Amino acid sequence: MTIRAVVRGVGHYLPERVVPNAWFEERVDTTDEWIVTRTGIERRHFAAENEATSDLAVKAAEAALKDAGIGAEGVDAIIVATSTPDFTFPSVATMVQGRLGLTHGFAFDMQAVCAGFVYALANANALIVSGQAGRVLVIGAETFSRILDFEDRGTCVLFGDGAGAVVLEADKAAGTTSDRGILATDLHSDGRHRELLYVDGGVSTTGTSGRLRMQGNAVFRHAVEKLANTAHTALDKAGLSGADVDWIVPHQANLRIITATAQRMQVPMEKVVVTVQDHGNTSAASIPLALSVGKERGQIKTGDLIVTEAIGGGLAWGSVVLRW
Ligand code: ACO
Repeated sequence: MTIRAVVRGVGHYLPERVVPNAWFEERVDTTDEWIVTRTGIERRHFAAENEATSDLAVKAAEAALKDAGIGAEGVDAIIVATSTPDFTFPSVATMVQGRLGLTHGFAFDMQAVCAGFVYALANANALIVSGQAGRVLVIGAETFSRILDFEDRGTCVLFGDGAGAVVLEADKAAGTTSDRGILATDLHSDGRHRELLYVDGGVSTTGTSGRLRMQGNAVFRHAVEKLANTAHTALDKAGLSGADVDWIVPHQANLRIITATAQRMQVPMEKVVVTVQDHGNTSAASIPLALSVGKERGQIKTGDLIVTEAIGGGLAWGSVVLRW
């Protein structure tokens, strides 16, 4: 008998304001055509001035709890993956805990930039299989619009705001590849590549929150190679292969990266959940958003084998194989 961390519910929240590519044509030297062809992005959502990351996170959490059919009091732990917290501290996770009216358990943030949700899922899985938590609310929530340089056409067109969440629950299982729940995880980082993607400010350096800087081309090359490798490794750890995959639910950074990774995994695009056209890159929120939208669209069904993979600043990357 094995313990598996099974997804019981999923939900998301997108801020009301939709920003089409045309909005950027008036601000920087770019075109809708360039953005669509090079990235696949058509629009993204930006949070309202009075909307913070915790506001997005709470709404996604409420949607996931509703989908799971459980009250917030049924949760033992909350992990929020974010690089754009409301404050330096307290954590967004404890703010969510307070807003949900939870007075037991524990909550903390996890920062692995765009790989944050994959890292959070892997850590929630570890808490569950080691018996430290029975139910974990795992949230990815970001307001990247707050750290964009709206004069840098190479980055400002790429990102959006949003949040997604899943409820993971401990379940007894046979210990086979047919089990529902998380079957394997694979995490990596390589700090030598920090200059490729970073924010040029922080508490102990500039005392400001800074702006996002990226060498897009170099990140692109790392992404295609590392994402396919980590997905293969996680499938291998689970005793499965690309042929067993029902859905790749990738980090939504760029349609060309998503397509190239699927090609390397020999999985056809019909088996890839794509939301980048509507959301842009929402960093740690992109995978739970895609899981939630994929379920809403009727793509993801109970029993489906899913591979998620993501890469972001650090560089940090990884993947999770789970049966829905
Ligand atoms: N509009 C018009 N032209 C542009 C724009 C724009 N918005 N942005 C860049 N260009 C220009 C460049 O200036 C360059 O012009 P030049 O040849 O005259 O110098 C030209 O387009 C080509 O630039 P490249 O950077 O080589 O373009 P590329 O095809 O690589 O696309 C992009 C750029 C979309 C950023 C791509 O490299 C990419 O998606 N990279 C990966 C980003 C990513 O995946 N990040 C994930 C992690 S994010 C995180 O962790 C927070």
